[in-house]
Amino acid sequence: MHVGIPKATRSGETRVATVPDSLAKLKRLELDVHIETGAGLASGFDDDAFRGKGAEVQDSITDCDLLIAVHPPAPETLRKGQVLVSMMDPLGDPAGVQALADSGVTAYALEFVPRISRAQTMDVLSSMANIAGYKAVLMAAARSPKLFPLMMTAAGTVRPSKVFVLGAGVAGLQAIATARRLGAVVEAYDIRSDTKEQVESLGARFVEFDLGIGDMQDSGGYAQELTDEQKALQAKLMAQVIQAADAVITTAQVPGRRAPLLIPEDVVRGMKKGAVVVDMAAESGGNCALSKPGEEVDVNGVTLLGPRNIPATLGATSSQLYAANLIAFLGELLKDGQINADADDEILGACLVCKDGQVTNERVLEALQR
Ligand code: NAI
Repeated sequence: MHVGIPKATRSGETRVATVPDSLAKLKRLELDVHIETGAGLASGFDDDAFRGKGAEVQDSITDCDLLIAVHPPAPETLRKGQVLVSMMDPLGDPAGVQALADSGVTAYALEFVPRISRAQTMDVLSSMANIAGYKAVLMAAARSPKLFPLMMTAAGTVRPSKVFVLGAGVAGLQAIATARRLGAVVEAYDIRSDTKEQVESLGARFVEFDLGIGDMQDSGGYAQELTDEQKALQAKLMAQVIQAADAVITTAQVPGRRAPLLIPEDVVRGMKKGAVVVDMAAESGGNCALSKPGEEVDVNGVTLLGPRNIPATLGATSSQLYAANLIAFLGELLKDGQINADADDEILGACLVCKDGQVTNERVLEALQR
């Protein structure tokens, strides 16, 4: 079977769906690999690096039966019967899935890989969140007017910065670990109380607010939405912690919904001059009022960063991990070099979003109604 890897066309995207060192594994899956010219350049892999590992580099890969990508190629370049495996933000952009269905492809959305141990190696959300959590802290440190670590110098002692991480999922935990490595004093909070132990194991303090509720984690391990009263109380208690911080990294998300607003405008205005907020949820509505996706905003000396697509700023590493996740998924999808479209398979069934011209996934169909 021929697998095609398109060059990403989205503005700011640097990632590619495979890297030269992964080609041997694709070959082991009995795939002939065709890479669109220049597909790896933005992440540091030139065409010769792919050729050197046995891939064919060509101007068009539209003939391939299987396409693996970072984002879906334009629907008009796809043809009926092709199989596409890609990230596609299926709940944020259900119309994109509908467009894929209309083009007649069978598409698998990697965001829907279930969070079960068998599928951990395919979990692109975790891979990308991990990278983004790391980079968000570097962005805060680079923008902060203060050093992060304690430093004893002949000119005196510099106190360490205080970093507050809001949301201790995959990105938040990596942000905590990175800020600790840089020497900051780190505090963190998540509505899922079982993150306390993980936060503490990384050397950070878990901030506790008594919201008068139990655990807010559903059976899938994701956060549930708080009521309006719970949100107001949480925000009030959190304001004090935020206003004492030199840098705040916000990572809170509720899948398929707008990100919770955790730092309202009055709290931003009460922050220390020179403080930096990196709002990792800026693209999905924002955890911080006044932050803007893709922009840097100054509010009375407080810097708000709303970076878009952070993994693309580390294209080589992101592509390497994404490629490994994809290969693990293909190991499930392919049998003897052919597509094994077993809808009863827990992983394949969860990821299949369209087939035979129809959107097949219930959550995407619901999102299309909204
Ligand atoms: P996510 O990106 O959906 O959310 C990030 C964090 O924001 C979560 O920890 C969530 O609890 C928190 N959050 C949501 N609303 C909040 C609020 N109002 N205030 C404070 N925090 C809030 O989550 P992510 O990082 O993709 O994963 C969620 C969890 O799923 C992980 O932490 C982990 O426990 C579990 N997981 C399991 C895996 C597996 O078993 N294979 C793989 C990856 C994650």
